[in-house]
Amino acid sequence: MSTEPVTVVARRVLDDRGDGAVRLGAGRAHGKAILLGEHAVVYGAPALAVPVPQLTAVAKARRVGGDGPDEISFAIAGLESPEVTSLPTDGLQHLVTEFRQRAAVTDPMRVDVLVDCAIPQGRGLGSSAACARAAVLALADAFDRRLDAGTVFDLVQASENVAHGRASGIDALATGATAPLIFRNGVGRELPVAMAGSARLSDPAGFDAVLVIADSGVSGSTRDAVELLRGAFERSPRTRDEFVSRVTSLTEAAAHDLLQGRVAEFGARLTENHRLLRDVGVSTDRIDRMVDAALAAGSPGAKISGGGLGGCMIALAGDRRESAAVVRGVRQAGAVRTWVVPMGRFAGHDD
Ligand code: PMV
Repeated sequence: MSTEPVTVVARRVLDDRGDGAVRLGAGRAHGKAILLGEHAVVYGAPALAVPVPQLTAVAKARRVGGDGPDEISFAIAGLESPEVTSLPTDGLQHLVTEFRQRAAVTDPMRVDVLVDCAIPQGRGLGSSAACARAAVLALADAFDRRLDAGTVFDLVQASENVAHGRASGIDALATGATAPLIFRNGVGRELPVAMAGSARLSDPAGFDAVLVIADSGVSGSTRDAVELLRGAFERSPRTRDEFVSRVTSLTEAAAHDLLQGRVAEFGARLTENHRLLRDVGVSTDRIDRMVDAALAAGSPGAKISGGGLGGCMIALAGDRRESAAVVRGVRQAGAVRTWVVPMGRFAGHDD
């Protein structure tokens, strides 16, 4: 993998190259956290996810002039290192091919793309989907194409299928959502619950809570976790059916709790979903300890979030004071960093 300092590549992308740069496009997306339903969603269960607006992916695409053959360069600046890689992931490479087809680009694809991603990788926070979404939007802008929401989803999903194996599509959608999202079989619906960063800062029922997201510091491969379960479920279809059916009931009930503002009941369902994910083998000892620590600190519910085998856990808190206690507890149990996502009446202002 070739790397060079971010400033060099960024300058190459953002400065006029002097050989007739024709158009600069920009795109952005954000991280996400799955509240309930991960893994089961791959088998047709519903899942609930929230946008995490403070974790951003921003892309710039600059078309360059000249009549030569296709010349596509990617530069990806990440949170983890001050360097960028100029080697695109297979997913991003695939995305460019798909973009050319879906957007009916007939000119040579001569473009430099810089993706600046503040979302840590391998933590179940939607980093690959958010990078792909930001890149699609930047390419569409640079090539002056208006893509409808379905086409953007399809392009991100094509890239995710390369990155994840068989992706359900929840990340492709949630990284562009502005409210909690219930997702099933490729179709998502945003729920009227206020979140920071969205235009809707009050909601009818008032799901007033603070979500704490905590990073276990260990990277987990979603592809490996999905494969692990696929193997286990092939050996025992009964385990699969029970898992999918119990997660379906929990997620449907949790969506009602969210709409009715029932924080304690919602929390209990999170913890129950954690037990199911732990029992099928995608949690880790450290995440189990972080879940226990959050509950001991007064959280109404906590669970692993995303693909697992590492990554993040989420814990609910009733208010900001409770969230501070939960943050202390999970850090003592091994969390290396935390993010706080206010919901309902906490979303619009500091309490
Ligand atoms: O990107 P992650 O780690 O949050 O995983 C997405 C959720 C899975 O259900 C594990 C996979 C999928 O494609 O839905």
